[in-house]
Amino acid sequence: MSKIVIAKAHTNIALVKYWGKKDPKLMLPQNGSISLTLDHFYTETSVQFSTHASEDQITFNDTQLSPVKAQRIVKFLDLIRAKSGQSARAIVKTRNHVPTSAGLASSASGFAALAAAGSRAAGLKLSLTDLSRLARRGSGSATRSIFGGFVEWHAGEDDLSSYAEPLQDPVDWDIQMIAVVLKATKKPISSTAGMQRVVATSPYYPAWVQTANRDLIAMRQAIADRDLTAVGTLAETNAMRMHALNLSAQPAFNYFTAETLTTINAVQDLRAQGINCYYTLDAGPNVKIICASKDTKAITTALQRHFRADQLIIAQPGPGISITEA
Ligand code: PMV
Repeated sequence: MSKIVIAKAHTNIALVKYWGKKDPKLMLPQNGSISLTLDHFYTETSVQFSTHASEDQITFNDTQLSPVKAQRIVKFLDLIRAKSGQSARAIVKTRNHVPTSAGLASSASGFAALAAAGSRAAGLKLSLTDLSRLARRGSGSATRSIFGGFVEWHAGEDDLSSYAEPLQDPVDWDIQMIAVVLKATKKPISSTAGMQRVVATSPYYPAWVQTANRDLIAMRQAIADRDLTAVGTLAETNAMRMHALNLSAQPAFNYFTAETLTTINAVQDLRAQGINCYYTLDAGPNVKIICASKDTKAITTALQRHFRADQLIIAQPGPGISITEA
């Protein structure tokens, strides 16, 4: 039996997004990305390798996953076994601290926590940069969840050059996100398949890569300047361009629901009234509102005309991973 290692990783929301793979096997992205790690949503995972187990046992929120559902995690554990020489099967217990059915990205915090706990339990002592490279192989966005605060993932050309690093942590100024948790709907298309389709069919894809690279330069500066207006404006534009790729794919798809558009319009109305707030969304209907904490009341009051108070979750910048041995 190996020791039991427990890791905690927080999720992150991209401000300049990753939407397209250059190398699907190594999970190299077409462009770099920048995110903010959030305190409110995280995953805790424990891993122990055991020669008594005949196959990997994965428990997710107290329920054992079927072999089909566990496949992606087993594949990731195989990668850790190949890197470490550990040949035993693993007992993995993972718990997502994300409001049930919120549909907020959990693969980022999930694979970051699994990379950290799994590699340490297998006997590897990886640097944070190496952990970021490893987490990337589970899910692209997990690359960034190793670190806290503002984080940049360098696209890179190969396994070694594609990793994340912190841009600003801790975040010493007033910026937060309000997650608007909308009705859970079945995803029209997974992020992997969505990315594949836009890269293969959207005539705008080359323009996306060009503008995303420009956004990275501007976003780094906006974060260094602690300029909420610049961060928010860039993030909102970048997110809408990502979704425009989906609308321009063949066949077209989108992740919006009617409530998504209601939220977007509410943010635009608030801004017209002088409240400094911006929206972003990923491969799902939920909207995240970028704003300062001083405007929380005005924003939540306006949104409560459409949504219940418990659908509005206020998240602050969060920390990088932590690892403990039981
Ligand atoms: O890491 P994945 O495969 O879940 O892809 C995430 C893609 C977006 O969340 C839409 C953007 C991003 O950079 O996180």
